[in-house]
Amino acid sequence: MKGVVLAGGSGSRLYPLTKITNKHLLPVYDRPMIYYPIQTLVEAGIRDILIVTGGKNAGDFLRLLANGREFGLTHLDYTYQEGEGGIAEALSLAEHFADGERICVILGDNIIEGSIRGAVEDFRRQERGAKILLKEVEDAERFGVAEIQGDRIIGIEEKPQRPKSNYAVTGIYMYDETVFEKISRLVPSARGELEITDVNNAYIREGTMTFAYLEGWWTDAGTFDSLLRANNLVAQSRARQRQREAAPVAAGAERDGV
Ligand code: DAU
Repeated sequence: MKGVVLAGGSGSRLYPLTKITNKHLLPVYDRPMIYYPIQTLVEAGIRDILIVTGGKNAGDFLRLLANGREFGLTHLDYTYQEGEGGIAEALSLAEHFADGERICVILGDNIIEGSIRGAVEDFRRQERGAKILLKEVEDAERFGVAEIQGDRIIGIEEKPQRPKSNYAVTGIYMYDETVFEKISRLVPSARGELEITDVNNAYIREGTMTFAYLEGWWTDAGTFDSLLRANNLVAQSRARQRQREAAPVAAGAERDGV
């Protein structure tokens, strides 16, 4: 399976932080934002990765990431989205890269605590269709929201005023090779974008969409509040990790009566 990180768009909700740089290059605790989604894909065993970016600072991605050596990769692919026609439009630029293979797509501002390895493995075994990851949230109206009946997902509404559940559709999507044909049939939404929610609903109508619940915390980082939250969550995770690493040493010292 190949991986696609979508890092286009204008980041207008973070203006003026995004006046002179791309949102996905902003810091989240000790790393640039784009590092997190790339790491998520690499940790899931995906090594063939395309970065879709846009705007005035596209060259900075190349300078920052080069061939992905920091992630243990030997190569990264890049492509450029003109304008900001929506997440599904950005994804349509990955057709050539995908070359008939399945893809795992992650939004460049989505940061998770845990792993998607299990879900990726499950999707490898799925005969066809798509798979999305859901997370229970308190502010569902900010996201695509899943309507669930039993163990089936029956529809997704994009930023509904009255959400039908508390389950947000996270920005991690797995698709078979029919995704590009589905995108080509989309029409722009009221906000003038090709919506990823419309792609997902096409799979739901076809009866080939599966879902799983994401373990651990999840956040986007595209608003001032969610960017702050992302920084805090990563900082707390790093602190816990340092504690875990120090714990065996401390336990050993206690045992030895030091
Ligand atoms: O974070 C999850 C949510 O992301 C989902 O629950 C929603 O269903 C989905 O529509 C999306 O909502 P947002 O309104 O938060 O999407 P946003 O416009 O902030 O774009 C998220 C990322 O997608 C952004 O960091 C880069 C990429 N993107 C977006 C647009 C509009 C592109 O690459 N190109 C684009 O034209």
